[in-house]
Amino acid sequence: MTTARPAAVIILAAGEGTRMKSATPKVLHRIGGRSLVGHAMVAARATRPAHLAVVVRHERDLVAGHVAEVDESATIADQDEVKGTGRATECALEVLPDDLSGTVLVTYGDVPLLTGETLVDLIARHEESGSAATVITAHLDDPQGYGRIVRDAEGGVAGIVEQKDATEEQRAITEINSGIYAFDVTVLRAALAEVGTGNAQGEKYLTDVLAIARAAGRRVGAHVIDDLWQTEGVNDRVQLAALGRELNRRNNERWMREGVTIVDPATTWIDSDVSIGRDATILPGTQLLGATSVGADARIGPDTTLTDTEVGDGAEVKRTEALLAQIGPGATVGPFSYLRPGTVLGARGKIGGFVETKNARIGEGAKVPHLTYCGDATIGEGANIGAGTIFANYDGVAKHHTTIGKHSFVGSDTVLVAPVDVADGAYVAAGSALTGDVEPGQIAVARGRQKNVDGWVARARAGTATEAAAKAATQAGTRHTDTPADSTGTERKA
Ligand code: UD1
Ligand code: CA
Repeated sequence: MTTARPAAVIILAAGEGTRMKSATPKVLHRIGGRSLVGHAMVAARATRPAHLAVVVRHERDLVAGHVAEVDESATIADQDEVKGTGRATECALEVLPDDLSGTVLVTYGDVPLLTGETLVDLIARHEESGSAATVITAHLDDPQGYGRIVRDAEGGVAGIVEQKDATEEQRAITEINSGIYAFDVTVLRAALAEVGTGNAQGEKYLTDVLAIARAAGRRVGAHVIDDLWQTEGVNDRVQLAALGRELNRRNNERWMREGVTIVDPATTWIDSDVSIGRDATILPGTQLLGATSVGADARIGPDTTLTDTEVGDGAEVKRTEALLAQIGPGATVGPFSYLRPGTVLGARGKIGGFVETKNARIGEGAKVPHLTYCGDATIGEGANIGAGTIFANYDGVAKHHTTIGKHSFVGSDTVLVAPVDVADGAYVAAGSALTGDVEPGQIAVARGRQKNVDGWVARARAGTATEAAAKAATQAGTRHTDTPADSTGTERKA
């Protein structure tokens, strides 16, 4: 970036947002995994300003708290009871240092698609032209509701007139004010002191600054942009969804251009803070959310939702829900699995179908292939957990840990009653209800011994087809009659 750093970016976010009809302040609604004001802050930060100020009023504490969470170095400015974008800007200047000089940007907390690049272009345009104020404008087919850019005979910007204050003739102007500006801060301060509230809305308009600067003989410019989405604000939930879809389209496109295959962008949702390696493939119906990262050559989906999850290179994750999990390189997960926080699957490990994991470290090459609940566990490398194994980690009061050593084997349908520790190189017999530790080299058998009762079917199930079958086999001196030979395979059909 060759552009000078601005002295400050001021983000206006004091408005009520009544059309959202929401208990949540408008700027805290989210698209692409970030709040609306969060998007504005990321764009602002890209210009590397010396100060970043956010103006708040409606639901002040909620918004200020969120802003601090996103960026603790941001300055909160409280707007008083005087209304309008001009007053909001003035309130920010009041809490910023008095000796600020150079360029100050003003943006909105509810315009989420505006990029840092556009702001950098705005600064360059503003500073190269030696303007006191430069406004981002756009030409709209339907300029309804926006402030209109009034140009003089030479095509220079003479001022901005709000829809409600505009004449019939001015309303026909299709060049609109985006509400995003670069100002020389000294001019801005002086002009704001002159702005009154004598307009249709009784507000102190920031837009009035442009005409005031012009009248003082200063240059005022416009930076016209073609990408209209970048100037769109969110006023209601219909716009929230439209901007969310467009943001997602942009995120998908960015990753495809970086070498990621996205089979169906229309059903693939990728949050703004996700990262994806080259030659990864994202299958339909997949959502990559929060701070999820996907390694190179990984294959995700279909129908998979990963939130704040890390997937290693070449891993494969099918039809899975995962939150705060780590999936190692070359590992496989799913289909139909649920990885909860604290799941760490080692390189080339496997979490198979219908498996739920939580706070579980599964070693390199270890396998939990089928129908298992695995909670509060450490599983060593190369261990195998049989189908239907349950890690019984909760005794009704507290959670306990289970350890399975490396290259150990847990037979199918085992209940591991935690706390329990199976050493390295040990076996647990299928169907066990294990309550004690197992030492290296041992097999633990924790179930009833098999007992066969002669003649039980004849006594207890007389007259049934089962009794008849038992009788026939007994008379033939065989264990099975009329069934395809299963040991030699000679009678098996092709
Ligand atoms: C404003 C502009 C208009 C422009 C439009 C672009 C003015 C007078 N008008 O109109 O020319 O076309 O934006 O969307 O500036 N805000 C505050 N405090 C306030 C009032 C607003 O912080 O007292 C914030 C809002 O939270 C919002 C932004 O400023 O983020 C714009 O406010 P809004 O009421 O939507 O402005 P418009 O009337 O639409
Ligand atoms: Ca608006």
